[in-house]
Amino acid sequence: MIAANDKPKFYLTTPIYYANSRPHVGSAYTTIVCDVIARYKRMCGYEVAYLTGTDEHGVNIERAAEKQGIGPAELVDRNQKIFLELWKLLGIQYTHFIRTTETRHARAVQNLVRRTLYRDRERGAGQKAIYKAKYEGRYCIYDNLYVSDSPEPADCPTCGRPGELVSEENYFFRLSAFQERLQELYAKNPQFVVPDFRFNEVKSFVDAGLRDISISRKSIKWGIPWPEDPEHVFYVWYDALTSYISGIGFVDGEHDGPDFKFWPADIHAMGKEIIRFHAVYWPAFLMAAGVALPKQIVAHGWLLFEQEKMSKSKGNVAYPEPIVRVLGNDALRYYLLREVVFGHDGNFSRDALLTRYNADLANGLGNLASRVLTMIQNYCGGTIPASTAGESPESKYLFPAPADQARNSAIRAYEDFNFSAAVGAAWELVSVADRYLVETKPWELAENSEKRRSMNTVLSHAVGALHFALVLAHPVIPEATQRIWEQLGQPGKIADQRIDRLQWGGLKPGTRIGKPEGVFPRMDKKEASERIETMENEIRNPGSTQPASAPAPATGGAAPAAASAPGAKIGIEDFAKIELRVGIVKSAEKVAGADKLLKVMVDIGEEVRQIVAGIATAYTPEELVGRKLVIVANLAPRKLRGVESNGMIVAASVGPEGRPVLCTFTEDVPAGAKLK
Ligand code: MSP
Repeated sequence: MIAANDKPKFYLTTPIYYANSRPHVGSAYTTIVCDVIARYKRMCGYEVAYLTGTDEHGVNIERAAEKQGIGPAELVDRNQKIFLELWKLLGIQYTHFIRTTETRHARAVQNLVRRTLYRDRERGAGQKAIYKAKYEGRYCIYDNLYVSDSPEPADCPTCGRPGELVSEENYFFRLSAFQERLQELYAKNPQFVVPDFRFNEVKSFVDAGLRDISISRKSIKWGIPWPEDPEHVFYVWYDALTSYISGIGFVDGEHDGPDFKFWPADIHAMGKEIIRFHAVYWPAFLMAAGVALPKQIVAHGWLLFEQEKMSKSKGNVAYPEPIVRVLGNDALRYYLLREVVFGHDGNFSRDALLTRYNADLANGLGNLASRVLTMIQNYCGGTIPASTAGESPESKYLFPAPADQARNSAIRAYEDFNFSAAVGAAWELVSVADRYLVETKPWELAENSEKRRSMNTVLSHAVGALHFALVLAHPVIPEATQRIWEQLGQPGKIADQRIDRLQWGGLKPGTRIGKPEGVFPRMDKKEASERIETMENEIRNPGSTQPASAPAPATGGAAPAAASAPGAKIGIEDFAKIELRVGIVKSAEKVAGADKLLKVMVDIGEEVRQIVAGIATAYTPEELVGRKLVIVANLAPRKLRGVESNGMIVAASVGPEGRPVLCTFTEDVPAGAKLK
């Protein structure tokens, strides 16, 4: 459809994020992917609406707040701000943001159900989409999933935790009545869910027959009240899915805001574990209410950390902020889109991130840009040179063919959500340009005045290739490409370029370039990694600024909060939370690639624990064996340089360098004895 400004419109959404904790790299992934799609679509001439938001109701929010001794409203306010700040830091150009605690959203949810109830009046008894019945079954509060319809114990298929027993009268949605209509929808829209293999899972699920689902809860307070029956609140998924329409102005289907013109959504993007809610429940809810259906569900895999889904509850998360602060926003975006094959699970590794940064960004695009700009500055008087027909020196690279090919491949790949290939196409052009320069040696041509035109032609081709690579890579690395764009003396925003109309020769000869400045400084991998790790530890344990690999006695977790405020007093109940035990070292060895870390196996009576400690500058592995130590036994496990640490070794921190001196005993004490 054509929007008022004559541009075709495009609407895409991220899932709305649970506001029970801060986002990690895994949760930022969906948002970054959608930002890339949104930027790409804008560069193809679309008016794009991009919705994201926060999912703020439900038991998991209620409980997380309770744990922190605050109300749920305070918790979600606090976390929602962290999301907003992160999206700003990552340069996310969303156009709409929705919180499920907003009044406009609650009204939309209630109205969607009212529309359904209104239509139910026309449906015969036993046919109504919504009915009341007793529910008894198991429910996962973390994934908000009805795990089983029987009171027997059952574990959540997504996270593996035991489902909680729910037994109450609920409003039910007659999902079973929508099986055929859903099957028809899938048959008519062969691309309704991508990738294909995920669509097949959805179809099999529906073909196997659908069970009605409970869409209200009585035992919960923190939710949207059911219209005219406020003892019930909405099941969080009915509430959350409706954000896709409330966020762009849905009121009741009759009095909607102007941005509701964007509905139906072109794309709902998400991780693989929540496809069923989007491809089965959501279309059925909309059908029942007589609202148009979204066009496509696009699912990605998980970001794994050590082969497990990155997730805060497992403690295996990387946070985006430290990466952005050390390497820049583009580095994280580039790494995630290049390294992860979209649709499949992908491993996150800091080492691979730094390798990619140096190889592809610093030595690849960054280096090509500064070489080309410097040569234009030095050999062409700082203006973009023109090429002359017949003046190309011998080369196997015949421009503009490689550039046209890169554009065609990148566009095809962006359209197929194959971001890795889209970026790969731009980078293939970067390496062709590099090889072309090595072959044609413009620096040698520059020394011979008769070869001036050849040199201009070479540099004109090289800068032309750079121009193409910048435009093609812009949706993924928006900041650096804009900066190089300006250094090329180009007016306006590179974002305003049409990627689908990208033509060779777009840089006007004679344009004065700006000052060449590096955009991706090369990084010392070890140092950058340590800086990132230090900042991550600070996020995990606010107040502890101790890098894990510094010569510190403590590893495996932060010192108690009181230590961050010297002199502050804690109560005995705080001290009692820390479990200190005697341990005896069974073996110790260095941690590969970390000068300061030792992996120590410590007998603490009932088990032998693996602890990673920053004591290698003061102790050799051999002298530790047999030694008695004091360890903090109840710290949550964490990984240091990829090695799991289950506890912390206590030591004094001596002198300005903080030399670790281990705590020990002069009298005989058995392993595992508690310290009080
Ligand atoms: N609140 C629901 C969505 C409601 S949408 C109507 C929810 N929230 S979530 O915070 O748990 O997840 C939001 C998104 O983050 C999902 O797309 C999910 O797949 C994604 N990710 C969370 N952890 C992830 C990884 N480790 N890797 C990749 N994406 C992951 O579900």
